[in-house]
Amino acid sequence: MITLAIETSCDETSASVLENEKVMSNVISSQLFHTKFGGVVPEVASREHLKKITEITYEALKRSDKKLSDIELICATSGPGLIGALLIGLNFGKSLSAVLNVPFVPVNHIQAHLYSNFLSGQKAEFPFLGLIISGGHTLLILAEDFFKHKIIGSTVDDAAGEAYDKTAKLLGLEYPGGKQIDDNSKKGDKDFHKFPISHLKNNEFDFSFSGIKTAVLYFLRDIDYNNNDIKDEKLLYDICASFQETMVKTLFDKTLKAAKKFKVKNIAVSGGVSANSGLRERFYELKEKGYNVYFPDTEYSTDNAAMIGLTGYLKFIHSKNKEYYKLESLAQKAYPKLNYSEF
Ligand code: KG4
Ligand code: ZN
Repeated sequence: MITLAIETSCDETSASVLENEKVMSNVISSQLFHTKFGGVVPEVASREHLKKITEITYEALKRSDKKLSDIELICATSGPGLIGALLIGLNFGKSLSAVLNVPFVPVNHIQAHLYSNFLSGQKAEFPFLGLIISGGHTLLILAEDFFKHKIIGSTVDDAAGEAYDKTAKLLGLEYPGGKQIDDNSKKGDKDFHKFPISHLKNNEFDFSFSGIKTAVLYFLRDIDYNNNDIKDEKLLYDICASFQETMVKTLFDKTLKAAKKFKVKNIAVSGGVSANSGLRERFYELKEKGYNVYFPDTEYSTDNAAMIGLTGYLKFIHSKNKEYYKLESLAQKAYPKLNYSEF
């Protein structure tokens, strides 16, 4: 089955063509100009998706050596995400499916991150624990079978990626700052300063990252970081390394605790923050303790349409009622989803 997938939930316009579960092409156009605003401006993002979507889709078809007439299934992100941005990809995909008369599958962006590790070599076997860490979401999921998931923890405030981006901003780094903190931390001392880890009483598997961001803010204020004319690079590297150590420890410790409690030996980490080198290193150490650890290739860590295509395709082939995905029956149901209700 040839699938065309579209992703426009935030600041990446992406299109991908898959043949069954195999990615034939995955074209991603990142809206780098948001950097100058210090974050994604929703209306500007939507307008850029509108400009790019046709060109990116044709590029994905070209690279996969497929024609529009070869497409048998269309998938697009239906949420969560920026409403205006979602509507561009969703309506583009729905219109194409109507014209081509092929089924259309709306895909939950977070579910797609969960399945993104299936695109890279070995697939996690069920049951597995999914740690999904992106710019907008932080979730611990127990995946028992295809589309049988339980949320066992989530963030009560900032998402993990958001904590990276906000801290990067405090340090004067460009948005999105996750990768820069990661790169800087390789040159710094992780024991330079201890930033606090939040412990939550209600649910031990929930996360809170607003405290660490505030702790960095106070630390920088105390050392008068922003009034230093000549920035000390070593200091920047050490702060990045110390911040990263707390983030990695928080994410790792909670996931391992959950794996023990739910007696799961397979752990799949995904979402933009899963590109983090320190996190990968820490989780891979678990392999020696009898755990199977899965990360997507970095191309599939951050937002991409290949994960949308794979998830939509899996949803379609595991569905008992394929008629449901005919456009007429979806007309009312494939609207942007802004919460986790369908998880
Ligand atoms: O999944 P994603 O592309 O978009 C959302 O669905 O939100 O994740 C983007 C997030 C940003 O916050 C970015 O700073 C973070 O992923 N990120 C990283 C790294 N690469 C991207 N965070 C830490 N280390 C990285 N290497
Ligand atoms: Zn994402």
